[in-house]
Formats: sequence, structure tokens, C-alpha cells
Amino acid sequence: MNDARDALVVVEDATKTFTTGRLEVRALRGISLEIHEGDFLALVGPSGSGKTTLLNLVGALDRPTGGVVRVLGRDLSTMKKSARAELRLRELGFVFQAYNLVPVLTAVENVEFVLELQGLGASARRSRALEVLAELGLAELADRRPNELSGGQQQRVAVARAIAARPKLVLADEPTANLDGASAEQLMALMRRLHDEHDVTFVFSTHDPRVVAHATRVVTLVDGKVSSDVEKERDAA
Ligand SMILES: Nc1ncnc2c1ncn2[C@@H]1O[C@H](COP(=O)(O)OP(=O)(O)OP(=O)(O)O)[C@@H](O)[C@H]1O
Ligand SMILES: [Mg+2]
Repeated sequence: MNDARDALVVVEDATKTFTTGRLEVRALRGISLEIHEGDFLALVGPSGSGKTTLLNLVGALDRPTGGVVRVLGRDLSTMKKSARAELRLRELGFVFQAYNLVPVLTAVENVEFVLELQGLGASARRSRALEVLAELGLAELADRRPNELSGGQQQRVAVARAIAARPKLVLADEPTANLDGASAEQLMALMRRLHDEHDVTFVFSTHDPRVVAHATRVVTLVDGKVSSDVEKERDAA
């Protein structure tokens, strides 16, 4: 793809085969894809088409069986596990489907947690965490534990945590899967605002057409291959 913007992630003919006992599952069968700064990219496709597997490669959580995956210029196949962990911690943000927050920590402590892992001192990380929550309109939730928050609120705190360290790229695997329609819309509005106003690049998988509507680029996987990759106008917020 010809694009002047920087490629954050380059995937070249990547394959991923899972072997369980004598069974081989070819989850990815030759994927080529570039993710650019500024993308707001929805990854769609039937169940089992390889969305999570691909997100795990892009997020340096796993390595390809074949082909090349370069994340922020680093080739995953030559990186040790610890180097991949460091890359995730320093450069990437993650939002998962559910059970995303640490249950015994309050919202602000959950946001602080990643900043602590990054080596930020106690007072710096507390003020940064509160600042992020406030920025996202979540200040009043700071002292609540996950079980005192709705699913939608938990996911918004998870987004706050994902962006607290100002990552270049945020990956979200079906972030709205457990949310009702209204909460899903709120979450997407939040992600969009971070994208539009704070230049955060997002890649998210979803089965929900209402969530896809927010994307500016839609990549469809079928049977472990890219079946289409289109830029589109997005629907009004
Ligand atoms: N750890 C694993 N071990 C064995 N097979 C796996 C593993 N992870 C995924 N698979 C298989 O790889 C294929 C792709 O799975 P993946 O989870 O990437 O699909 P998906 O598109 O995310 O599906 P869904 O929409 O249901 O989340 C499936 O056939 C799945 O069963
Ligand atoms: Mg999945």
C-alpha cells in the first residue's frame, strides 16, 4: 500500500499455525497488511477467521509461524519474549473484551498500575492517572473498584489505562462485546475522541456493524486471509 504516513506495523505474508496434539489449525494463511499512524481500523470477519490471532501478532503477544511482522520497526521473530514484553509495555495499549481491570484495585489504581510498571514514581503516576480519568470524564469513578462500575464504565476505565502511557497504538479485541448498545456507543465515542483529538491510532475487532460504522478503514478476514481492505467515510458521531 502506498501511503505517506508512517507504517506503525508491517505484516508481510504472515502465517500462524497452532498445533494441538496431532491437530494443526492454520489460523492465518498469508496476511499482508500495513497499519498506519492515524488509522481507526476495524477488523471484521466470521468467528474463527483469525481476528484475535492477528491482533495478538500486531500487539507482540505472539509470533508468526511464517512471514514477517514488524511492530514499530522491530521484527517480532528476532525478539526475545522479554523484549516483546518491553515493547508492549512502552509502546502499545490494550483493551480486551472483559475482565480487563484488576478487581482489587480502584479505577485510578488500575490506571496507575501500568505507569508503575513503566517506572513512574508514586506521585507522578497518581497525578497522571487522575489527569487521564478527568480528561475522559471519569474523575468521579476514580475510587471505585471494578465491581462497583457498570460494564461500560469498566471499559472506559480500561481505555483510560490503555492510553495513560501515551502509546503509539492501541489494540482492542471486541471491546464492546459485553456492552449494551448505549455503552458501546459511549465507548466508541471515547475512542474516536482520542483518535481525533489526541492522535491515538486504534485497531479493534468487532462483530457489531454499529461499531464498524465508526471506523475509517475496515479489514475483513475470511479463513485466515484478508478478503478486503477498504478506507471509508465514517458515519457521523
Ligand atoms: N491457542 C490456540 N490453539 C489452537 N487453535 C487456536 C488457538 N487460538 C486460535 N485458534 C484457532 O485459530 C482460528 C482463528 O481463531 P481466532 O481466535 O483468531 O478467531 P477470531 O476471528 O478472533 O474469532 P472470534 O470472532 O470468535 O473471536 C480458529 O480456528 C481457532 O480455533
Ligand atoms: Mg476473537
